Amino acid sequence: MSTNNDSWGSRIGLILAMAGNAVGFGNFLRFPVKAMQNGGGAFTIPYLVCFLLMGIPLLYVEWASGRFGGKHGHHSTPFILGSMHAGRIWKYIGVFGIFTNLAVAAYYCYLESWTLSWVWNSFSGVFSGKSQEEVTGVFKSYVSLDGPMAIITWVICLLLNTWILSKGLSGGVEKVAKIGMPLLILFGAILAIKGVTLKAGENGALHDGTFGLNFLWNPDFSTIWSPKVWLAAAGQIFFTLSVGMGSIQCYASYVKRKKDIALNAMSAGWMNEFVEVVIGSCILIPIGIGYLGIDKVVEMTKTGGLGFGFQTMPYLFQQWGGVFSIIAGVFFFGLLFFAGITSSLAMCTPCMGFMQDEFGWSRQKAAWAFGATILILGLPTVLYFNEGVFDEYDYWAGDVSLVIFALFEIILFAWVFGMKRGWDEMNEGADIKIPSFMKLIIQFISPLIIGFIFVMSLPDLWKNLSDFSSTPKVVARLLLLALWLAIAWLVRTAYYKRKREGRYLNQELKF
Ligand code: TRP
Ligand code: TRP
Repeated sequence: MSTNNDSWGSRIGLILAMAGNAVGFGNFLRFPVKAMQNGGGAFTIPYLVCFLLMGIPLLYVEWASGRFGGKHGHHSTPFILGSMHAGRIWKYIGVFGIFTNLAVAAYYCYLESWTLSWVWNSFSGVFSGKSQEEVTGVFKSYVSLDGPMAIITWVICLLLNTWILSKGLSGGVEKVAKIGMPLLILFGAILAIKGVTLKAGENGALHDGTFGLNFLWNPDFSTIWSPKVWLAAAGQIFFTLSVGMGSIQCYASYVKRKKDIALNAMSAGWMNEFVEVVIGSCILIPIGIGYLGIDKVVEMTKTGGLGFGFQTMPYLFQQWGGVFSIIAGVFFFGLLFFAGITSSLAMCTPCMGFMQDEFGWSRQKAAWAFGATILILGLPTVLYFNEGVFDEYDYWAGDVSLVIFALFEIILFAWVFGMKRGWDEMNEGADIKIPSFMKLIIQFISPLIIGFIFVMSLPDLWKNLSDFSSTPKVVARLLLLALWLAIAWLVRTAYYKRKREGRYLNQELKF
């Protein structure tokens, strides 16, 4: 029945693809912006605590659940969770794991297409001789759709994603990761060195590169108990590691039965942190602060955080003069493109896996259907960008949905599936020994932290839900709700289809 017998070609390919899944705009754009918005050093401690006590445990849980589901032929969260317990509710919780990916992909691919345009703009000298305000102007007119470029590039970007997906895991996704990740690290390292060694007074810089880094890394305890800072830090950990989204489970479900996940999960997770904390923080912040000063950067990241890198970096690179200003632009936006595409490919696999598993679709058909869905879902974020539709998607899918899903999945894993079985799953085939205190963290500490985060974010959630001031935003919200319901309906259909055909979600759990 299922046409889905894809698997990973090699271990290094798997790790790079998983790291590529995690390494994305989150590392290079979102992290610096969130850190600046939350006081630099004040952000660091909550960020690291959330990584250790919530990020790592969730990585283990998701890799283990994914491989477990894969054993029973499931490659997306509705039935991965459904195969872990007979309760009917779990497959609907799993709907979040497809929903988030589709909704995030809808706006993420648009962002990805900006990087392509910015590579071209840097290369063809669009930014040369422009002032900071003029570069911001280029960005504003681009997202206001003054010319056809934004839409054309977006469609090209979607086609590219779809085409790679239609080639499968080892033939497409893994190849892109094997080329993209090393290039990204190379480009990143060159720019990071340039950022750190920036000298005040040279090429018009106001401060040394280390000035911005000090701002970022000097712990500042004054705001450490602010719930806002903790929420932002936790949200960043979720987003950057891609946990709570369903894409890790999906990738892990293609890992063969007895193959290691414990070491792989750590390699991919720590690689993401390296790229974020070491490379990601040495580019935007030291260069931005070096040229513009702390106050200006704080102000710019407050309003329109997302476009910060697109509005400032081309101008700053110009100051370096000559060929290097062009190379720097091509490297920076090229690196963002690779970071973006390896993540957007990961967002596509869960729904493709679902259609292949349950409805016998071919990979090609699933890939093209996915492309078409993103075209439709993404269009409002492109057309109504200035009305805040992009941010509305980002809030519901990139902030809220993952926390809800993570809370349920960790409870399912540690308490319903059971920690003992869960621990055995994590350790099967393991190439490292997972320290046994991890058991306690997964069982008690992480669920408490995630629950706490959820409760703390409720006021904000309510505020956003009851905001009817902008029609495009309300329509966007309804569209997302419709998407969730449509996926739930598909899951229900697939479930009854299985029941009729007597194909169990898991041999031990009869209907
Ligand atoms: N982690 C990615 C980043 O840092 C984003 C990402 C990857 C993602 N896969 C995802 C977001 C799945 C939502 C769903 O940019
Ligand atoms: N919600 C984020 C913010 O307001 C938006 C954002 C910034 C973002 N950078 C990003 C979303 C990178 C995706 C990727 O700051």
